Amino acid sequence: MAIASPPGVGQVIDGVIEGQAQRLDPLAEQVQGWLRNAVARGGPTGLQLKNFLHGIWLGHPLHPALTDVPIGAWSAALLMDLFGPSKGADAAVAIGTLAAVPTALAGLADWIDTEGKPRRVGLVHATLNSLGLGLYVWSWLARRSGNRQLGVLLSTTGYSVGVVSAWLGGELVDRMGTGVSRNAWEPPVQDFQVAAREADLREGQLAAGEITVDGQKLPLVLLKQGGQIYALSGVCSHWGGPLAEGQLVGECVQCPWHGSQFSMRDGSVRQGPAQFAQPCFETRVRDGNVEVRTPRAAR
Ligand code: FES
Repeated sequence: MAIASPPGVGQVIDGVIEGQAQRLDPLAEQVQGWLRNAVARGGPTGLQLKNFLHGIWLGHPLHPALTDVPIGAWSAALLMDLFGPSKGADAAVAIGTLAAVPTALAGLADWIDTEGKPRRVGLVHATLNSLGLGLYVWSWLARRSGNRQLGVLLSTTGYSVGVVSAWLGGELVDRMGTGVSRNAWEPPVQDFQVAAREADLREGQLAAGEITVDGQKLPLVLLKQGGQIYALSGVCSHWGGPLAEGQLVGECVQCPWHGSQFSMRDGSVRQGPAQFAQPCFETRVRDGNVEVRTPRAAR
């Protein structure tokens, strides 16, 4: 008879969050609505700020890069509280607390465009982080007023909350794939392959194409414009939206799911929430067929 192994910590936390789905989903929808309204009310500046917080300017998601600062500073503070100089610990608490604010904002910008389970887990992650941050702010104030004992107690409690929250952040990425490029496993196309008939393309209109690589079908989005033919992977790097069903906005394709925009010329991200560029293909026309391959430099 098979003996069932006890559930791991991850499964227990997962079970608790999923058990609260009926409560968490309406709350998450409401908070997302507020955040989306705030971005919309900000007009172009609101959109630019959201793009900045996604890390599009960096070519890398900003939130995970920033998390190193508060986690590092607060870890250093914990060690100095135990073994080191109290002034150093107080300074590390202050640095971590200040750095946690932009880190939280970048995380919120990413969370706005999540759905389902990642949205629920993200909400709990954000709530725990806010609780942890509140405890660190309180600790900082207590330390400044000379009550170090209370300050250490509060920051140690905040650190414990942060550890659970960091676990959930890891679950979001490693197990649920949040923030992972949907094109990460797309194989390079070594030799030119037929993607569509040229006669099926209309000047200035997006069209769908498809190739098969290593037995795997790869959808494409194509554009004929000004005598050139452009081709990108048709799977949005954000959550896999079908780009060929999107809209052409200037020289960009706009994803129909969450509105990310990619330049049809080189696949670069022009508007989030996507943070990774689309694979872009070299094209040529032979015998009335549009053929594509991965440029040498990208193979
Ligand atoms: S799937 Fe989210 S923007 Fe494309």
